[in-house]
Amino acid sequence: MRTVFLATGNSHKIGEIRSLLGPDYSIVSQRDTSAALNPEETGTTFAENARIKAVTWAAFLGIEVCDLGAQWVLADDSGLEVDVLKGAPGVHSARFAALDDGRPGNSPDAENTAKLMRLLAAVPAEQRTARFRCTLALTPVRPGSSPDELAQETRFFDGTCEGRIALEAAGSGGFGYDPVFIPAGYEVSFAELGETVKNQLSHRAKALERLKNEWR
Ligand code: IMP
Repeated sequence: MRTVFLATGNSHKIGEIRSLLGPDYSIVSQRDTSAALNPEETGTTFAENARIKAVTWAAFLGIEVCDLGAQWVLADDSGLEVDVLKGAPGVHSARFAALDDGRPGNSPDAENTAKLMRLLAAVPAEQRTARFRCTLALTPVRPGSSPDELAQETRFFDGTCEGRIALEAAGSGGFGYDPVFIPAGYEVSFAELGETVKNQLSHRAKALERLKNEWR
């Protein structure tokens, strides 16, 4: 069985990835170690930020006597692109609200969503098109390899989910922008649809399907 370390502490992402990968994979994550690496996400694309997280953790797991037994590190970088906002919040999705006052770190989901809804207040339904994007970076844990070598060996898997931003937030499932994102072909938000339906449609599900195909 492959043991995969998820380079995230986001319990929602961990839950979704665990259920999408299924029982053939053993999953450990940042929540299983007291190590608190916090690589700065300085990239301008989802792929760059995913690679920064995956390589930082793979390099750490390769040198530490760490009994997690992970052979691979998987990092998810994802976000929401809203067309009328020219692709914002994009790579800044997790810290969208904090951008206004330069606060360090991520902002609470409710603040990010409130800012988005404020910016779109005057935008009619047909112009509220948007998509979630996810890029997964997969890096081997290989003791002795330098970060540059690990970066060379990193592979990427993308997934996109088209949809639109609702006129009002609704639903209590999921995380992040789920209460305001209505996937194409549906009339209610990801948060209302719940995890089972979200996991059939989401950007993360599509990226993981590509990864699983490669492993098969
Ligand atoms: P990351 O952890 O730096 O990749 O930030 C991702 C951010 O994008 C999250 O904090 C959410 O705000 C948003 N996001 C990514 N995927 C989803 C999703 O599946 N549902 C809702 N929001 C998401």
